[in-house]
Amino acid sequence: MRRLRRTAALRELVAETTLEPRRLVLPAFVREGISEPAPISTMPGVVQHTRDTLRKAAAEAADLGLGGIMLFGIPATKDARGSGAVDPQGILNVAIADVVAEVGDALPVMADLCLDEFTDHGHCGLLTQHGTVDNDATLEVYAEMALVQAAAGVDLVGPSGMMDGQVAAIRAALDGASRQDVAILAYSTKYASAFYGPFREAVDSSLQGDRKTYQQDARNVTEGVREARLDVAEGADLVMVKPALAYLDVLRAVRDAVDVPVAAYNISGEYAMVEAAAANGWIDREPAILETLTSIRRAGADVVLTYWAAEAARLLER
Ligand code: PBG
Repeated sequence: MRRLRRTAALRELVAETTLEPRRLVLPAFVREGISEPAPISTMPGVVQHTRDTLRKAAAEAADLGLGGIMLFGIPATKDARGSGAVDPQGILNVAIADVVAEVGDALPVMADLCLDEFTDHGHCGLLTQHGTVDNDATLEVYAEMALVQAAAGVDLVGPSGMMDGQVAAIRAALDGASRQDVAILAYSTKYASAFYGPFREAVDSSLQGDRKTYQQDARNVTEGVREARLDVAEGADLVMVKPALAYLDVLRAVRDAVDVPVAAYNISGEYAMVEAAAANGWIDREPAILETLTSIRRAGADVVLTYWAAEAARLLER
Protein backbone atom coordinates (compact mmCIF):
# COMPACT_ATOMS: atom_id res chain seq x y z
CA MET A 1 0.00 0.00 0.00
CA ARG A 2 2.91 2.37 0.57
CA ARG A 3 3.84 2.62 -3.16
CA LEU A 4 1.10 5.21 -3.78
CA ARG A 5 2.00 7.18 -0.64
CA ARG A 6 5.68 7.66 -1.54
CA THR A 7 5.54 11.24 -2.88
CA ALA A 8 3.13 14.15 -2.47
CA ALA A 9 2.36 14.03 -6.20
CA LEU A 10 1.41 10.34 -6.01
CA ARG A 11 -0.80 11.05 -3.04
CA GLU A 12 -2.50 13.82 -5.04
CA LEU A 13 -3.06 11.40 -7.90
CA VAL A 14 -5.05 8.97 -5.78
CA ALA A 15 -6.76 11.30 -3.28
CA GLU A 16 -10.46 10.43 -3.09
CA THR A 17 -11.81 13.56 -1.46
CA THR A 18 -11.45 17.17 -2.54
CA LEU A 19 -11.90 20.40 -0.62
CA GLU A 20 -12.37 23.56 -2.64
CA PRO A 21 -13.37 27.11 -1.62
CA ARG A 22 -16.64 26.77 -3.60
CA ARG A 23 -17.71 24.06 -1.14
CA LEU A 24 -17.36 26.34 1.88
CA VAL A 25 -19.98 28.69 3.26
CA LEU A 26 -19.08 31.35 5.82
CA PRO A 27 -21.57 31.90 8.65
CA ALA A 28 -21.42 35.57 9.73
CA PHE A 29 -22.99 37.54 12.57
CA VAL A 30 -24.16 41.14 12.30
CA ARG A 31 -25.23 43.10 15.33
CA GLU A 32 -27.54 46.09 15.39
CA GLY A 33 -26.25 49.37 16.79
CA ILE A 34 -22.52 48.76 17.20
CA SER A 35 -19.80 50.89 15.61
CA GLU A 36 -16.89 48.45 16.01
CA PRO A 37 -16.86 44.68 15.47
CA ALA A 38 -17.36 42.87 18.79
CA PRO A 39 -15.17 39.82 19.43
CA ILE A 40 -16.94 36.64 20.58
CA SER A 41 -14.89 35.30 23.49
CA THR A 42 -15.99 31.69 23.05
CA MET A 43 -15.10 31.74 19.34
CA PRO A 44 -11.63 33.30 19.05
CA GLY A 45 -11.25 34.95 15.64
CA VAL A 46 -15.01 35.32 15.05
CA VAL A 47 -16.78 38.64 15.59
CA GLN A 48 -20.21 40.19 15.64
CA HIS A 49 -19.92 42.46 12.62
CA THR A 50 -21.13 46.00 12.13
CA ARG A 51 -23.09 46.48 8.93
CA ASP A 52 -19.95 47.95 7.41
CA THR A 53 -17.52 45.22 8.37
CA LEU A 54 -20.05 42.59 7.28
CA ARG A 55 -20.01 44.08 3.78
CA LYS A 56 -16.22 43.82 3.76
CA ALA A 57 -16.33 40.20 4.92
CA ALA A 58 -18.82 39.41 2.17
CA ALA A 59 -16.68 41.07 -0.49
CA GLU A 60 -13.69 39.08 0.72
CA ALA A 61 -15.73 35.85 0.67
CA ALA A 62 -16.66 36.56 -2.95
CA ASP A 63 -13.03 37.27 -3.87
CA LEU A 64 -11.97 33.99 -2.30
CA GLY A 65 -14.52 32.09 -4.36
CA LEU A 66 -16.48 30.78 -1.39
CA GLY A 67 -19.77 28.98 -1.91
CA GLY A 68 -21.77 31.50 0.08
CA ILE A 69 -22.30 33.52 3.22
CA MET A 70 -24.92 32.59 5.84
CA LEU A 71 -26.15 35.61 7.78
CA PHE A 72 -27.30 35.76 11.40
CA GLY A 73 -28.69 38.99 12.88
CA ILE A 74 -28.55 40.14 16.48
CA PRO A 75 -31.21 42.78 17.15
CA ALA A 76 -30.85 45.54 19.75
CA THR A 77 -34.16 44.60 21.34
CA LYS A 78 -36.02 41.30 21.55
CA ASP A 79 -39.64 40.53 22.31
CA ALA A 80 -41.88 37.49 22.79
CA ARG A 81 -42.89 37.34 19.12
CA GLY A 82 -39.46 38.05 17.64
CA SER A 83 -40.81 41.07 15.78
CA GLY A 84 -37.37 42.12 14.57
CA ALA A 85 -37.29 39.09 12.30
CA VAL A 86 -40.19 40.25 10.15
CA ASP A 87 -39.43 43.98 10.23
CA PRO A 88 -38.00 44.98 6.83
CA GLN A 89 -35.79 47.41 8.78
CA GLY A 90 -34.70 44.67 11.20
CA ILE A 91 -30.97 44.04 11.38
CA LEU A 92 -30.94 40.74 9.49
CA ASN A 93 -33.06 42.10 6.65
CA VAL A 94 -31.05 45.29 6.16
CA ALA A 95 -27.86 43.22 6.33
CA ILE A 96 -29.12 40.92 3.57
CA ALA A 97 -29.73 43.97 1.38
CA ASP A 98 -26.29 45.39 2.26
CA VAL A 99 -24.53 42.18 1.34
CA VAL A 100 -26.49 41.69 -1.88
CA ALA A 101 -25.63 45.27 -2.88
CA GLU A 102 -21.97 44.46 -2.21
CA VAL A 103 -21.62 41.08 -3.95
CA GLY A 104 -24.52 40.86 -6.41
CA ASP A 105 -24.61 37.44 -7.99
CA ALA A 106 -20.92 36.73 -7.31
CA LEU A 107 -21.63 35.05 -3.96
CA PRO A 108 -24.77 33.17 -2.91
CA VAL A 109 -26.35 35.04 0.01
CA MET A 110 -28.12 32.92 2.62
CA ALA A 111 -29.91 33.90 5.80
CA ASP A 112 -30.88 32.05 8.94
CA LEU A 113 -34.66 31.81 9.06
CA CYS A 114 -35.45 31.30 12.72
CA LEU A 115 -36.81 33.30 15.63
CA ASP A 116 -34.32 32.44 18.37
CA GLU A 117 -32.10 35.47 17.80
CA PHE A 118 -35.17 37.73 17.97
CA THR A 119 -37.23 36.35 20.85
CA ASP A 120 -36.73 37.42 24.46
CA HIS A 121 -37.34 33.81 25.58
CA GLY A 122 -34.74 32.56 23.10
CA HIS A 123 -36.87 29.81 21.56
CA CYS A 124 -37.01 29.20 17.82
CA GLY A 125 -40.76 29.78 17.70
CA LEU A 126 -43.72 31.43 19.37
CA LEU A 127 -44.83 30.14 22.75
CA THR A 128 -48.31 29.07 23.77
CA GLN A 129 -49.73 30.43 27.01
CA HIS A 130 -48.41 27.25 28.64
CA GLY A 131 -44.88 28.00 27.51
CA THR A 132 -44.53 25.27 24.87
CA VAL A 133 -43.40 26.09 21.33
CA ASP A 134 -46.45 26.49 19.08
CA ASN A 135 -45.59 24.74 15.82
CA ASP A 136 -48.25 26.04 13.46
CA ALA A 137 -48.38 29.60 14.76
CA THR A 138 -44.62 29.69 14.23
CA LEU A 139 -45.01 28.53 10.62
CA GLU A 140 -47.00 31.66 9.86
CA VAL A 141 -44.18 33.84 11.14
CA TYR A 142 -41.58 31.83 9.21
CA ALA A 143 -43.61 32.32 6.02
CA GLU A 144 -43.65 36.06 6.62
CA MET A 145 -39.94 36.06 7.43
CA ALA A 146 -39.20 34.27 4.16
CA LEU A 147 -41.03 36.96 2.19
CA VAL A 148 -39.18 39.77 3.97
CA GLN A 149 -35.83 38.07 3.38
CA ALA A 150 -36.77 37.48 -0.26
CA ALA A 151 -37.65 41.15 -0.68
CA ALA A 152 -34.24 42.03 0.78
CA GLY A 153 -32.63 39.96 -1.97
CA VAL A 154 -31.62 36.69 -0.32
CA ASP A 155 -30.69 33.79 -2.64
CA LEU A 156 -31.38 30.99 -0.17
CA VAL A 157 -33.35 31.02 3.06
CA GLY A 158 -32.11 28.70 5.80
CA PRO A 159 -34.95 27.56 8.05
CA SER A 160 -33.25 26.25 11.21
CA GLY A 161 -36.04 26.11 13.77
CA MET A 162 -37.04 22.45 13.34
CA MET A 163 -40.78 23.15 13.23
CA ASP A 164 -42.71 20.41 11.43
CA GLY A 165 -43.81 21.53 7.98
CA GLN A 166 -41.55 24.59 7.89
CA VAL A 167 -40.19 23.91 4.42
CA ALA A 168 -43.66 23.41 2.91
CA ALA A 169 -44.96 26.58 4.58
CA ILE A 170 -42.02 28.66 3.35
CA ARG A 171 -42.14 27.22 -0.18
CA ALA A 172 -45.88 27.94 -0.42
CA ALA A 173 -45.41 31.51 0.81
CA LEU A 174 -42.57 32.20 -1.62
CA ASP A 175 -44.40 30.67 -4.57
CA GLY A 176 -47.56 32.55 -3.63
CA ALA A 177 -45.61 35.79 -3.84
CA SER A 178 -44.12 34.78 -7.20
CA ARG A 179 -40.72 34.20 -5.61
CA GLN A 180 -40.12 30.79 -7.11
CA ASP A 181 -36.54 31.98 -7.61
CA VAL A 182 -35.65 31.92 -3.90
CA ALA A 183 -34.17 28.57 -2.83
CA ILE A 184 -34.40 26.76 0.50
CA LEU A 185 -31.38 25.38 2.31
CA ALA A 186 -33.23 23.37 4.96
CA TYR A 187 -31.64 22.61 8.30
CA SER A 188 -33.34 19.23 8.07
CA THR A 189 -31.47 16.97 10.38
CA LYS A 190 -30.62 19.09 13.37
CA TYR A 191 -29.85 17.71 16.77
CA ALA A 192 -30.29 19.20 20.23
CA SER A 193 -26.56 19.58 20.84
CA ALA A 194 -24.31 20.72 23.66
CA PHE A 195 -21.89 21.90 20.97
CA TYR A 196 -24.01 24.97 20.14
CA GLY A 197 -22.78 26.61 23.36
CA PRO A 198 -20.44 29.21 21.84
CA PHE A 199 -23.06 30.21 19.25
CA ARG A 200 -25.43 31.15 22.04
CA GLU A 201 -22.91 33.77 23.16
CA ALA A 202 -22.41 34.84 19.55
CA VAL A 203 -26.10 35.75 19.21
CA ASP A 204 -26.60 36.92 22.83
CA SER A 205 -29.13 34.14 23.27
CA SER A 206 -31.58 34.49 26.13
CA LEU A 207 -32.59 30.82 26.07
CA GLN A 208 -33.46 29.16 29.37
CA GLY A 209 -33.74 25.39 29.22
CA ASP A 210 -33.22 23.49 25.99
CA ARG A 211 -34.66 22.80 22.54
CA LYS A 212 -35.35 19.10 22.99
CA THR A 213 -39.04 19.33 22.05
CA TYR A 214 -38.11 20.38 18.52
CA GLN A 215 -34.47 19.52 17.81
CA GLN A 216 -33.58 15.84 17.47
CA ASP A 217 -32.35 13.33 19.99
CA ALA A 218 -28.66 12.49 19.52
CA ARG A 219 -29.42 8.77 19.64
CA ASN A 220 -31.42 8.72 16.39
CA VAL A 221 -30.10 8.21 12.89
CA THR A 222 -33.13 6.68 11.08
CA GLU A 223 -35.19 9.62 12.25
CA GLY A 224 -32.55 12.00 10.89
CA VAL A 225 -32.81 10.43 7.44
CA ARG A 226 -36.60 10.71 7.65
CA GLU A 227 -36.35 14.41 8.50
CA ALA A 228 -34.21 14.97 5.40
CA ARG A 229 -36.57 13.00 3.16
CA LEU A 230 -39.57 14.93 4.47
CA ASP A 231 -37.86 18.22 3.71
CA VAL A 232 -37.02 17.12 0.17
CA ALA A 233 -40.67 16.15 -0.32
CA GLU A 234 -41.71 19.58 1.02
CA GLY A 235 -39.49 21.34 -1.50
CA ALA A 236 -36.05 21.76 0.06
CA ASP A 237 -33.39 22.51 -2.56
CA LEU A 238 -30.57 21.48 -0.25
CA VAL A 239 -30.75 19.69 3.08
CA MET A 240 -28.39 20.01 6.02
CA VAL A 241 -27.04 17.85 8.80
CA LYS A 242 -26.04 19.68 11.95
CA PRO A 243 -23.80 19.45 13.94
CA ALA A 244 -21.23 17.81 11.67
CA LEU A 245 -18.46 16.08 13.61
CA ALA A 246 -20.47 14.12 16.14
CA TYR A 247 -22.92 13.14 13.38
CA LEU A 248 -20.72 12.03 10.46
CA ASP A 249 -22.58 8.72 10.34
CA VAL A 250 -25.88 10.57 10.00
CA LEU A 251 -24.35 12.73 7.28
CA ARG A 252 -23.36 9.64 5.30
CA ALA A 253 -26.81 8.10 5.73
CA VAL A 254 -28.52 11.30 4.57
CA ARG A 255 -26.17 11.67 1.59
CA ASP A 256 -27.05 8.12 0.51
CA ALA A 257 -30.80 8.66 0.99
CA VAL A 258 -31.59 11.89 -0.87
CA ASP A 259 -30.99 13.25 -4.36
CA VAL A 260 -30.41 16.91 -3.51
CA PRO A 261 -27.13 18.52 -2.42
CA VAL A 262 -26.31 17.93 1.24
CA ALA A 263 -24.74 20.52 3.51
CA ALA A 264 -23.19 20.01 6.93
CA TYR A 265 -22.65 22.68 9.57
CA ASN A 266 -19.30 22.59 11.32
CA ILE A 267 -20.74 24.37 14.34
CA SER A 268 -19.46 26.75 16.97
CA GLY A 269 -18.46 24.13 19.55
CA GLU A 270 -16.51 22.18 16.95
CA TYR A 271 -14.69 25.36 15.99
CA ALA A 272 -14.06 26.29 19.62
CA MET A 273 -12.58 22.89 20.49
CA VAL A 274 -9.95 23.10 17.78
CA GLU A 275 -9.17 26.75 18.55
CA ALA A 276 -8.83 26.06 22.28
CA ALA A 277 -6.59 23.05 21.81
CA ALA A 278 -4.45 24.93 19.29
CA ALA A 279 -4.16 27.95 21.59
CA ASN A 280 -2.80 25.61 24.25
CA GLY A 281 -0.28 24.18 21.81
CA TRP A 282 -1.95 20.78 22.02
CA ILE A 283 -2.66 20.40 18.30
CA ASP A 284 -1.27 21.91 15.10
CA ARG A 285 -4.00 24.35 14.12
CA GLU A 286 -3.91 24.62 10.32
CA PRO A 287 -3.66 20.90 9.53
CA ALA A 288 -6.37 20.28 12.14
CA ILE A 289 -8.68 22.73 10.34
CA LEU A 290 -8.13 21.14 6.94
CA GLU A 291 -8.46 17.62 8.34
CA THR A 292 -11.73 18.57 10.03
CA LEU A 293 -13.23 20.02 6.85
CA THR A 294 -11.96 17.16 4.70
CA SER A 295 -13.54 14.63 7.06
CA ILE A 296 -16.91 16.32 6.72
CA ARG A 297 -16.59 16.23 2.93
CA ARG A 298 -15.52 12.58 3.04
CA ALA A 299 -18.58 11.68 5.12
CA GLY A 300 -20.77 13.02 2.32
CA ALA A 301 -21.19 16.78 2.57
CA ASP A 302 -21.32 18.59 -0.74
CA VAL A 303 -21.26 21.91 1.12
CA VAL A 304 -19.67 22.72 4.49
CA LEU A 305 -20.66 25.70 6.61
CA THR A 306 -17.63 26.68 8.64
CA TYR A 307 -16.32 29.68 10.55
CA TRP A 308 -12.94 28.85 8.98
CA ALA A 309 -14.27 29.23 5.41
CA ALA A 310 -12.19 32.28 4.47
CA GLU A 311 -9.04 31.07 6.18
CA ALA A 312 -9.39 27.56 4.74
CA ALA A 313 -9.80 29.03 1.25
CA ARG A 314 -6.52 30.88 1.74
CA LEU A 315 -4.79 27.74 3.03
CA LEU A 316 -6.04 25.81 0.00
CA GLU A 317 -4.60 28.42 -2.37
CA ARG A 318 -1.08 27.88 -1.06
C1 PBG B 1 -30.77 28.58 15.26
C2 PBG B 1 -29.35 28.21 15.00
C3 PBG B 1 -28.41 27.73 15.92
C4 PBG B 1 -27.22 27.54 15.21
C5 PBG B 1 -27.46 27.92 13.90
N1 PBG B 1 -28.79 28.30 13.78
C6 PBG B 1 -28.49 27.56 17.38
C7 PBG B 1 -29.40 26.61 18.00
O1 PBG B 1 -30.11 25.84 17.35
O2 PBG B 1 -29.43 26.62 19.23
C8 PBG B 1 -25.93 27.04 15.81
C9 PBG B 1 -24.71 27.27 14.99
C10 PBG B 1 -23.45 27.00 15.73
O3 PBG B 1 -23.44 26.51 16.88
O4 PBG B 1 -22.39 27.29 15.14
N2 PBG B 1 -31.04 29.88 14.73
